[in-house]
Amino acid sequence: TDRLVVLISGRGSNLQAIQDACARGQIPGRIVGVISNRPEAAGLEIARRAGLTTQVVDHRLFSSREDFEIALSEAIAKWSSDWIVLAGFMRAFTPGFVDRHRGRLVNIHPSLLPAFTGLHTHRRALQAGVCWHGATVHFVTAELDGGPIIAQAAVPVAPEDDEATLAGKVLAAEHRLYPQALAWLCRGQLVLDGESLRWREFPPMRERCLL
Ligand code: GAR
Repeated sequence: TDRLVVLISGRGSNLQAIQDACARGQIPGRIVGVISNRPEAAGLEIARRAGLTTQVVDHRLFSSREDFEIALSEAIAKWSSDWIVLAGFMRAFTPGFVDRHRGRLVNIHPSLLPAFTGLHTHRRALQAGVCWHGATVHFVTAELDGGPIIAQAAVPVAPEDDEATLAGKVLAAEHRLYPQALAWLCRGQLVLDGESLRWREFPPMRERCLL
């Protein structure tokens, strides 16, 4: 089974969803390590409770992004992982780091990309007045939140939604979406080929585009 390293910065609810999916066999893989760039991340406690090995690589202790990424790469390398899974990891990477891990680096982003890259996606979706919002799992490339899209989950925006309720709906969708996408990756159903996805076995549309 494939080996996953999960990178977090905060709460860790996606980490929990991925760990649960590994435990029930939905993802044919296992989490071999959890790395946080913040020592106070609540997700570290989730990881420890699940019996996972954790490591903190605190970006504030490094004078440059490159030095931080060298330490991060060393931490990742010692687990010889197949996949580097960003789950609420809130640091952008240099093109060098992305190139070194190309095709093995995936992220979940709380919007229907290419809409609302970057931060505060729920607030901006409400401001824009969109009817549909959601989450996207994608390969990480040098362009921020711009890599090829693996799967998406859409949620309807209700008139009474505020930032918090919308975030909650999207997060619930994320917890179904990320395990599904990681299952395809670990089964070898798709690979990153240059700038696009190459599917070996295309999943049913209802799995690729969750509602
Ligand atoms: C999730 O909503 C994830 O999509 C988002 O952070 C949250 C992490 O929650 N990621 C980003 O915004 C990446 N730029 P979690 O720590 O409970 O999984």
